[in-house]
Amino acid sequence: MANVVVVGAQWGDEGKGKIVDWLSERADVIARFQGGHNAGHTLVIGGVVYKLSLLPSGIVRKGKMAVIGNGVVLDPWSLFSEIEKLEGQGVEIGPDNLMIAENTPLILPLHQDLDKLREEAAGASKIGTTGRGIGPAYEDKVGRRTIRVADLADEETLDSRLDRLLAHHDPLRQGLGATPIDRAELKAKLLEIAPKLLQFAQPVWKVMNDYRKAGKRILFEGAQGSLLDIDFGTYPYVTSSTTMSGMAATGTGMGPSAIGFVLGIVKAYTTRVGSGPFPTELEDADGQRLGERGHEFGTVTGRKRRCGWFDAVLVRQTCAISGVNGIALTKLDVMDGFKTIKICVGYEIDGKQYDHLPTAAALQDRVKPIYEELDGWEESTQGARSWADLPANAIKYVRRIEELIQCPVALLSTSPERDDTILVTDPFAD
Ligand code: GDP
Ligand code: IMO
Ligand code: MG
Repeated sequence: MANVVVVGAQWGDEGKGKIVDWLSERADVIARFQGGHNAGHTLVIGGVVYKLSLLPSGIVRKGKMAVIGNGVVLDPWSLFSEIEKLEGQGVEIGPDNLMIAENTPLILPLHQDLDKLREEAAGASKIGTTGRGIGPAYEDKVGRRTIRVADLADEETLDSRLDRLLAHHDPLRQGLGATPIDRAELKAKLLEIAPKLLQFAQPVWKVMNDYRKAGKRILFEGAQGSLLDIDFGTYPYVTSSTTMSGMAATGTGMGPSAIGFVLGIVKAYTTRVGSGPFPTELEDADGQRLGERGHEFGTVTGRKRRCGWFDAVLVRQTCAISGVNGIALTKLDVMDGFKTIKICVGYEIDGKQYDHLPTAAALQDRVKPIYEELDGWEESTQGARSWADLPANAIKYVRRIEELIQCPVALLSTSPERDDTILVTDPFAD
């Protein structure tokens, strides 16, 4: 039985939450493996909207195990406020349906301070982060001075971890004009939340490998998108984690052979929140139309998302890097009513043609998209649940995307609602 990894193939907000929720009916275990509460995944089930940031989207279904893997950075206070909110919506959450890897690094208030201080100091060259402390938390993990979930179980360990952490952060804060950390207050806050958090702590690598042996179906839920990847994204305008499919294995403690099918989530156009290059960005009426029809406002920060035409060059590139086996094409309905639709099929930089986005930032800034034009369609695709319901030009658009990105469509999504989804190939099938 194939385990499935869901990854965003653009700049995030492709509709991963909706697709993970839809697929999770067939899964036993749903695991987050990177990122943190910078993610905003929206599910719409029978008109009820659920917004998830840190919890795997499978949590809303009864009888599924939701897992937060070691590749995630976890803000415990934000986790419990999210749990509370979902419980208010009738979702039951406890150690029998949520587990957290013991070796997961924590995001602390000092990480959020640093994220904001740096963004303020950067002025016009800011990244446009979500301000959630994601970057600083990953830096501390790699810098070997983070506090991990398991460290909360022993006060002596916690003390030594705090010493190491503050020896780094206090001088840094001083340099940025901020006050030193109140160590006693931070320690008290951590000791207070420790028992609540530790009830979910597990050796996730072990449990996941046992699940695998028992033939359970695992669905890995990526956050952000491939173009925000720390290595392959539009650096430095990226997030601080690996957002590619390979991370699903190391981010939960499994070998790469645990991954059976990589499903890339692809929006039928392109959006981006925050700063950085965006070759097909539209600042005209078409861009505005995409933003309005697609309700393109960030789930986490409420910021307006930048919108543009579909960029086949970028998606072909990210599908290759993540080894995408099939895509879920979302928000096709947003393209309804355009007279003509453009697709970016190549780039031109200083008179030279490119079939990929070059790495050098100076070249990325000068990219000019080469467009192909397709006829649009008048009819509505909203809520379509079969190919037969789609107008001929919409099918042509989907087929042309498949050709250009060299990857087949496995799923199509035609509205925010869970069931407005067309299954072409079952990713869980062997
Ligand atoms: P994620 O971060 O990848 O999970 O995506 P977000 O939830 O941040 O953003 C996607 C938005 O589009 C959400 O508001 C979804 O409810 C919505 N959405 C998902 N699929 C579709 C679709 O096929 N059509 C339309 N119109 N909206 C969709
Ligand atoms: P989901 O999972 C879209 C963007 C931020 C910023 C950059 C770095 O909902 O698709 P960070 O706070 O991670 O250091 O910010 O990454 N970003 C996202 N954009 N969707 C997301 O998540 C994002 N998570 C981070 O806007 O440009
Ligand atoms: Mg989102």
